[in-house]
Amino acid sequence: MTRTAYLNGSFLPLDEARVPVMDRGFLFADGIYEVAAVLGGRLVDNAAHLARLDRSLSEIGIRNPHSAQEWERLETELAERNGLMEGLVYIQVTRGVAERDFSFPKGDVAPTVTMFTQAKSIVANPLAETGAKAITVPDLRWKRRDIKSVALLAQVLAKQQAAEVGAAEAFMVEDGVVTEGSSSSVFIVTKAGALVTRPLSHALLPGITRAAVLALAEETGITFEERIIAADELPEAAEAFYTSASAFVMPVVEIDGHTLGDGKPGPVARRLRELYFAFAEGRRG
Ligand code: PDD
Repeated sequence: MTRTAYLNGSFLPLDEARVPVMDRGFLFADGIYEVAAVLGGRLVDNAAHLARLDRSLSEIGIRNPHSAQEWERLETELAERNGLMEGLVYIQVTRGVAERDFSFPKGDVAPTVTMFTQAKSIVANPLAETGAKAITVPDLRWKRRDIKSVALLAQVLAKQQAAEVGAAEAFMVEDGVVTEGSSSSVFIVTKAGALVTRPLSHALLPGITRAAVLALAEETGITFEERIIAADELPEAAEAFYTSASAFVMPVVEIDGHTLGDGKPGPVARRLRELYFAFAEGRRG
């Protein structure tokens, strides 16, 4: 069955959804995106994803073409048309089609809106049973990583470097500190038992899963610290994990070839993964 995509007001077969070469997303990566999970046919934490979509658009001066209600209606219809029970809904908005010129086009150019779905087993992910391997790589990105920009070349290269050594994620390091994963937020648990993640700033994306995990930790009495994580703390950590809409909470058991703890997913990561499932399934939160 061919997937159905959404492009500028129409639902159509994915392989018929075409964007012109002069689209500024294609030429300049002049656009932003959002990814939300679907579990049991329902969007997970979608209000927060749509709020971040709105913020990303406003930070780069693209008008948001839809209200949150309209976005949710479109996402729900797309998921339904694709019979999507578990997986991801991807939204991309670019500044639209115009003659190539670096500065914004004059006049009222309509943003290009693209959406598609990807079926994915998020809950029954075998990687979560064994735990993932990660590597560290230099963070080569620009200085506004809080914007969910489609300019992802540095992350593509980081993820490929990880894949080539059998690792699932690359933790990006700048000036000796961990910024975030190539497509995730990074957490560690120190040997003293402290759950730690980096505070938000322009240096990293405000992860929606990160925020939910911190709220769940707070609710259940797991104390945490938001502080900088030095790269040399990683091999010393009792546990590490990363969070994202596509991985939820993914335990890490090896970083740069160094085994963490006993080499199995740690208790804090496993507990937070369970709590996040319950939240995502609407059993709580
Ligand atoms: N990426 N940091 C970066 C650089 C990311 O690309 C992502 C998510 C996150 C986690 O954010 P969230 O919890 O809101 O998914 C952090 C998505 C999943 C992607 O690009 O596919």
